[in-house]
Amino acid sequence: MTVPGLLQKKQAGIKIACLTAYDASFAHVLDRAGVDVVLVGDTLGMVIQGLSSTLPVSVDDMLYHAGAVARGLSHALLMVDMPFLSYTTPQQALDSAGRMMKQAGAQMVKLEGGADLAGIVQCLAQHGIPVCAHLGLQPQHVHKLGGYRVQGRDEQAAERMLSEALTLQQAGADMMLLECVPGPLAQRITEALAIPVIGIGAGPACDGQILVLYDILGISYGRIPRFSRNFIDTAGSVQGAVSAYVEAVRDGYFPAAEHTFE
Ligand code: KIV
Repeated sequence: MTVPGLLQKKQAGIKIACLTAYDASFAHVLDRAGVDVVLVGDTLGMVIQGLSSTLPVSVDDMLYHAGAVARGLSHALLMVDMPFLSYTTPQQALDSAGRMMKQAGAQMVKLEGGADLAGIVQCLAQHGIPVCAHLGLQPQHVHKLGGYRVQGRDEQAAERMLSEALTLQQAGADMMLLECVPGPLAQRITEALAIPVIGIGAGPACDGQILVLYDILGISYGRIPRFSRNFIDTAGSVQGAVSAYVEAVRDGYFPAAEHTFE
C-alpha cells in the first residue's frame, strides 16, 4: 500500500482497513489479512507498557516497536505515531519524523493537533514525509481536555474542527484521523476533504476505520471502548478475528450504529 494508493481507495469509494500493531508477529498476521495501514500507535504506552496514558512514551520506544512491526510487513503501509512533545517545532518534528523513517522504516507519521500544527505539517510535507493529522479526541492532550471525551459535539466546536481539517489538508497532510467525533460531523469532514479520512469512534461515513488491535482481540485490560468491537469471540482465532475485522470494514458492517456517537 502506498500514499497514492490510499487516495485512490477514497476516490473509488473502497473502505480502508487499518489496525494498530506493536510487534513483528502481529504485524505479519495483519499483513496476511489484507490490512491497508498498520499504525504503531503511542497506545503502546498503555497496552504494552501498562501506563495510564500515552504521555510518557518516547521516540526511542516508538522506534523500537516500529522497527519490529516493519519487519513483519510486506504489503501494508506503516504509519508511526509521533509521541508527546516530539514535534514542538518544525526542526524537532523533522528530526523525530526523520528517525522514524530512516531508522524504523515508517512510511507516514501521525501527529495529534489542530491548525496550530499547520507549519509543522508543511515542513514535513516539504521534506517528503507523509503526514496523517489526528483531530477530535487527542489523547496526548488528555489533561487539557479533562478526560477521554467525544469532541465536536456543539456547533462551534464542530465548525472549528472542520476548518482545522481543511487547514491541515492545505498544509500538506496526506491523511486525517478522527477520534471520538459524532458521526454526522465525521461525515461532513470526510465529504469536505480530498484526502482519506480514517475514523475511530467517528461513525461509518469515514473513508476507513482503525481500532486498537488488543481491543478486537479482547485482551485489552479495562473496559473496551463503546466504539470498538471484540471480533475474536465469533472468529475463534487471531487470524480469523483480524480477517473478520477487515471484511466488516470493507463491506461497511463495522462500525454499526451502536459504535457511533451522535
Ligand atoms: O495511538 C493509537 O493507537 C492511536 C489510535 C487510537 C488511532 O492513535
